[in-house]
Amino acid sequence: MKKNLFSLRDLTNEEIFEILDEARRFKRGKEYPVKNKVVCNLFFEPSTRTQYSFNMAEEKLDMKVINFNCQTSSLNKGESFYDTIKTFESFGIDLFVIRHSKTRYYDELKNISIPIINAGDGMGDHPTQSLLDLFTIYEEYGHFDGLKIAIVGDIKHSRVAHTNIEVMTRLGMECFTSGPKEYEEACYKHIPLEEAIKNMDIIMLLRIQNERLGSSEHLQMSNAEYLKNYGLTMDKVNKMKEHAIIMHPAPFNRGVEIDDDVVECDKSRIFKQMTNGVYIRMAVVKRSLGL
Ligand code: CP
Repeated sequence: MKKNLFSLRDLTNEEIFEILDEARRFKRGKEYPVKNKVVCNLFFEPSTRTQYSFNMAEEKLDMKVINFNCQTSSLNKGESFYDTIKTFESFGIDLFVIRHSKTRYYDELKNISIPIINAGDGMGDHPTQSLLDLFTIYEEYGHFDGLKIAIVGDIKHSRVAHTNIEVMTRLGMECFTSGPKEYEEACYKHIPLEEAIKNMDIIMLLRIQNERLGSSEHLQMSNAEYLKNYGLTMDKVNKMKEHAIIMHPAPFNRGVEIDDDVVECDKSRIFKQMTNGVYIRMAVVKRSLGL
C-alpha cells in the first residue's frame, strides 16, 4: 500500500524501527532498483541537505527524478501551490517529496492521490530529519531508552525540535531544551546549558531560524555574545561526558551556535547525520511507494 509521510506522530514505534532497520540494510549495501517509478521533488523553501540527499537516495534506487524549480515555474504567473501539485499529479508522477514554508501545507493536498513525503513544513515537522537523527543515535548507543538529550538554541521556530522531542520522548529518551529564553517553549523541560554540557549523552544544537522570526523576535546580541552564552566552544566540549556526542541538523553558523573547531571535533556526528540521511530517505521512499 502506498503511504504518505507527513509527521512521525502518524507512525507507531514499530513502524519507526522498521524504517531504521531498512536504512541499516541500505547502509550495509542492500540494492533495490525501482527503475519504472518517477519521483518529483518540489522544494518551495531553500534546502541543501534534504533536497539533495533525497536526490541521492532516489538515484541509488535507480528512480527517475524530476526536480521542480520554483524560480522558473508558473508560480511566478500566479499559479497556486495546489494547482502546481495537481499539475504534476496529472503527468503521472508516482511520488512527491515536498518542502513548504507553510505549517501543515499538506492539509491543502487532500485531493491528491499520489503519496507525499513531507520534507519539512514551516514550524511543523521534519520527519526524515528526525529519522536520520534517530538512526545516528541508535548507531552510537544501540538503544534509546534512558538516553538524555538537550536541544539547544531556537526551539520555538524549529520543526526539527518539535518532531524530535515528540518521537524521542515516545522512544524512552529524556529530552531537555536550553538556549535564549525568548526561543524556549514552556511545554518542554528547561536545563541550563552548563548543566546540560556535563550531564547529557547528546547535545543537539540548532541555529536561530532567522527566516521565521517576527520583526520583534530578533535578539539584540552579537554573534560572539551568542556563542559565549548559548553556543558550543571547545572549552565546553571538554566538559562533556566521555561518550557524549554533538549533533546539529545543519545548516550551522560557525562562530554563532557552534565554534569553528567544534564542527569536526571527535564528538561531532554532524556529517555522519548527513550520510545517514541518504539511507533513511531510501527507506522512506521505498516505504511510501508501498514496496
Ligand atoms: N537539515 C536540513 O533540513 O537542512 P536543509 O535545510 O539544507 O535541507
